[in-house]
Amino acid sequence: MIHIVDKISSTNTWLPVYFSEEGDTILSMKQSKGRGRRGNLWDSDKGGAYFSTISRNHQLLPFITGISIAETLNDFCDDLKLKWPNDILYQGKKLGGVLCENLGDYSIAGVGLNITNNPSFSTAINLSSLDYELDKYNFVMSFLNHFQVMFSISSEEIIEKYLDFDCLVGNEITWENGKGVVKSIGIDGSLIVDISGETVNLYSEEVHIENY
Ligand code: BTN
Repeated sequence: MIHIVDKISSTNTWLPVYFSEEGDTILSMKQSKGRGRRGNLWDSDKGGAYFSTISRNHQLLPFITGISIAETLNDFCDDLKLKWPNDILYQGKKLGGVLCENLGDYSIAGVGLNITNNPSFSTAINLSSLDYELDKYNFVMSFLNHFQVMFSISSEEIIEKYLDFDCLVGNEITWENGKGVVKSIGIDGSLIVDISGETVNLYSEEVHIENY
């Protein structure tokens, strides 16, 4: 079932309480307590799209979600990239983000996208420069189609698709206490980085990319 509401605290908080089966989805026009990664608040004013869907568990769920967004937007939007592990970039700025959470037997994948809203942080961007009126319901339906297909392909193929949109491979990055050059993304979703000739796997729970 797809619920559409004008306002909610957080789609990622509401849906785990009220869902009945995999595929149940909620789209809200705004959120009063939108949640981002690492305990951050997610700016959720009117004008953006905020939705969550109940999914089966998958180690690469943030990648599956990001690819599905990129494929859905790609039809009418150039210069769209994914930044490991779960940022959606447009023209190099943050257009949206993905928050996946494990619910035990299921997971929830939540997406926030800036459409005409203007988040307060300087590195954010929205889609208002596009000559295209995005219908949020159709967008979510199309996202769900892409999302479903992703569960029928292998982890290798998921990573391959992710790399089509990736913006980090080949770049020098810095994180809290290190820097290195990104080589690839591992089958387990880790970022493979060369640090002065040594190959290291970075995990999204452990590092936050500061520059790239
Ligand atoms: C990030 O920090 O980049 C992830 C942001 C994810 C925000 C979305 S909006 C819909 C869903 N509900 C939430 O409270 N958060 C996610």
